[in-house]
Amino acid sequence: MKDNELLEILKEHGQEHIYEAYQKLDEKGKKKLASQIEKIDWSITDMAGNGEASMQRGRLEPLSALEISEIEKNKTSYEQTGINAIKAGKVGAVLLAGGQGTRLGSDGPKGKYNIGITKDVFIFERLIGNLQQVTDKAGCFVPLYIMTSDKNNDETIAFFEEKNYFGYPKEFVRFFKQEMAPSVDFNGKLYMEDKDSLSLSPNGNGGWFYSMVVTGIIDDVKKRGVEWLNIFAVDNVLQRIADPVFVGATIESGCVSGAKVVRKAEPREKIGVLCLEDGKPSIVEYYEMTEEIINSRQPNGELSYNFGVILNYLFRVDKLEEILNKKMPVHVVEKKIPYIDENGTLVKPEESNGYKFELLVLDMIHMFENCLSFEVKRDYEFAPIKNKTGVDSVESARELLKKNGVEL
Ligand code: UTP
Repeated sequence: MKDNELLEILKEHGQEHIYEAYQKLDEKGKKKLASQIEKIDWSITDMAGNGEASMQRGRLEPLSALEISEIEKNKTSYEQTGINAIKAGKVGAVLLAGGQGTRLGSDGPKGKYNIGITKDVFIFERLIGNLQQVTDKAGCFVPLYIMTSDKNNDETIAFFEEKNYFGYPKEFVRFFKQEMAPSVDFNGKLYMEDKDSLSLSPNGNGGWFYSMVVTGIIDDVKKRGVEWLNIFAVDNVLQRIADPVFVGATIESGCVSGAKVVRKAEPREKIGVLCLEDGKPSIVEYYEMTEEIINSRQPNGELSYNFGVILNYLFRVDKLEEILNKKMPVHVVEKKIPYIDENGTLVKPEESNGYKFELLVLDMIHMFENCLSFEVKRDYEFAPIKNKTGVDSVESARELLKKNGVEL
């Protein structure tokens, strides 16, 4: 792109300050910055400050879950169906590990975090251990696709290499990088993180399938004949991966997607609730619900909107391909964004100083015609590590791990 074209684009979007920085660069720097600018989706960055407000919800209705009591009754059949699918190579797992773990405050990949007390227990190690319980039972391996980002890819791969993939066969593990998105200040001005680079950060966990396609990882999925992908977060150390009972129940239900859910601890619990929106499955955040909906109860006294998601989903690959080019909502999120000031000094703010733009995997659910809501026991399957202390922290996860007999 020519300099004057670049200037025009930046002017049009009120980003002339980037052109000033651009003019000071040598040819190599100019090329790098220009290529980042060319990739910007301006319809997204122009949303700064009014994005979330514009997300209107449709008509909400409860979606009943396959509850634990029912699952117990049919467990043998579900498990066998799931094991058969795994043995036939139809199930793959996708670990979403491109996030930055800002709340935990660790700079590196979250999975490298050591939650051990008397010995080393890394988050990645726990997850691989959980997956191995299934692969031992099935007598075969499940391909594991790990999504990273530009910020943590090399360190993640180096860690797996150093730890010899925690005993999992390397040929069943593939890494792929997610897309990056620019960040802006509260006035919508693009931040820079270096003199020749915009402040770019991972674009949320919702673009994972798109990234599988653009990186070519999807070819591996196809080559192996994988029909179902189990998506899960890096930070739940009790995560059951490729759980045969969940896989089997979803297949037997005839649904094209499935979501693990837990019963809400209280009506206002800060958890996304799986329900129906305009007749299709959807995940609605607690702050998007009216008082009436939050408190609505069924005749048996139970909350009508009673099941929250834990970021463990199953998707049918052919259906993922169908929705590949559909637009997903963009979430505008206030964050602490490192940037360089006018003197070129890197500033790491203590408070939120702008917006990042994220796609979220939970929005995918609404793109499918149906979804099996599959209840699991919270204390056995949900120990997220988001913070250092308090709720959803290293401390609370350690307690839950101990409860489940895991030595730390
Ligand atoms: P979170 O929403 O908790 O974000 O991610 P985070 O980046 O890990 O932590 P904070 O908000 O900065 O403290 C839920 C899951 O989605 C993944 C994370 O790695 C985690 O497994 N994720 C998040 C991505 O893979 N990419 C992203 O861009 C964001």
